[in-house]
Amino acid sequence: MKEIIFATANPNKIREIKSMLAGRYTILGLDSINCTEDIPETRDTIIGNALQKAEYIVEHYGVNCFSEDSGLEIDALEGAPGVYSARYAGPEKNSDANISLVLSELKGKNDRGAQFRTVIALYLDGQMHTFEGIIRGKILNQRRGTGGFGYDPIFLPDGYDQTFGEMNADQKNLISHRAIAVRKLQDFLVNKL
Ligand code: IMP
Repeated sequence: MKEIIFATANPNKIREIKSMLAGRYTILGLDSINCTEDIPETRDTIIGNALQKAEYIVEHYGVNCFSEDSGLEIDALEGAPGVYSARYAGPEKNSDANISLVLSELKGKNDRGAQFRTVIALYLDGQMHTFEGIIRGKILNQRRGTGGFGYDPIFLPDGYDQTFGEMNADQKNLISHRAIAVRKLQDFLVNKL
């Protein structure tokens, strides 16, 4: 079975994608290539960071791999926090502080439109491919729900009456930006066989 390295330090993400591609591809973590260093993510776009991480692995380890990068893009803030989503309120990467900052910046604004975006960059047999997942929604005036992570409690996806923070993990993982991008990756990889 063909092996592909998933360039993430997050074991939950590896488990999720492993199960989606089970029996077709062997998805391995960075530990399997003894990569323990922090992979640089210094570009100023989500797609740029996804590509940078995959390119780093190819350059240093020469293996088939994919990486992903995500963020929240708010219409009234011209796409912010975007690529800076994790560290919007500071380098501590504190989700509660990030949410408070977003809510204060949106105070009094009627345009609450926003989207989560994920980009996956896949390097396979000498070629780079990208897959994007977007889910549109609204930023509420206050937090609702305690599930999920990051900005989930203030993001109400269009067509649903529960925020990502109120949904259970299975519900969110069916419709999320990450799920959409992963399904595109999955379709591509399965069609390659
Ligand atoms: P990552 O690239 O998946 O690590 O995401 C970067 C940052 O974007 C996270 O630290 C969160 O602040 C935000 N983010 C990405 N995906 C989600 C999500 O599904 N829910 C809430 N916040 C998210």
